[in-house]
Amino acid sequence: MIIAIDGPAASGKGTIAKRVADHFGFHCLDTGLLYRAVARDVARAGFKLDDTWAAVAFARGLDAATLDDPALRGAEAGDRASVVAKIPEVRRALLAYQRAFARREPGAVLDGRDIGTVVCPDADAKLFVTATSEVRAERRFLELRSRGDQSTSFDEVLDSILARDARDSGRADAPMKIADDAILLDTTQLDIEAAFDAAVGSIKRKIGQRAAT
Ligand code: DC
Repeated sequence: MIIAIDGPAASGKGTIAKRVADHFGFHCLDTGLLYRAVARDVARAGFKLDDTWAAVAFARGLDAATLDDPALRGAEAGDRASVVAKIPEVRRALLAYQRAFARREPGAVLDGRDIGTVVCPDADAKLFVTATSEVRAERRFLELRSRGDQSTSFDEVLDSILARDARDSGRADAPMKIADDAILLDTTQLDIEAAFDAAVGSIKRKIGQRAAT
């Protein structure tokens, strides 16, 4: 059983993916961490993020055991990830790991940008989780404030969200987009409990429909 959850930054897809995986007893892979880790390794070795040769080499040699590194958290690591994610050979190098993960029993939830369209086009259920850019920026802004960051303004957060959306949906290879058969979940007006309930309800309906056909 494979559940694909895609969507833009700060849409709530990561939290929903983890809770959905717990609910069904499935494995969960936050595929953004793979791109974040490649960007980390490229930068640490002193290369520029758009250095294709270095990014591909680090993507091919990625050690999945390093994905729980706290340095991969945060918006800055996400912005850097979005730069290496534009490189087609980097995406190709990370594909086999994601597809092998998706086959894990009894099931897997993968969240990212291209899970329903490229990584697992045959997923049993696909969700595209979104929210307006203002609400996503507000969530991120409040998170920064709660962590003691008083220096970043709301407008700066909004600008960085818009820039990341543009990069992720504007790239030529595997851009972020809604798969034809994905269920759209707009969390603009929903808190996390309501979003989780809506996600589980949609997934159960979809799996039920597939089983009936
Ligand atoms: O989901 P995230 O914010 O951790 O992702 C960080 C960046 O990685 C995102 O801006 C684009 C890239 N990414 C991607 O291109 N494809 C994925 N499946 C997941 C993430």
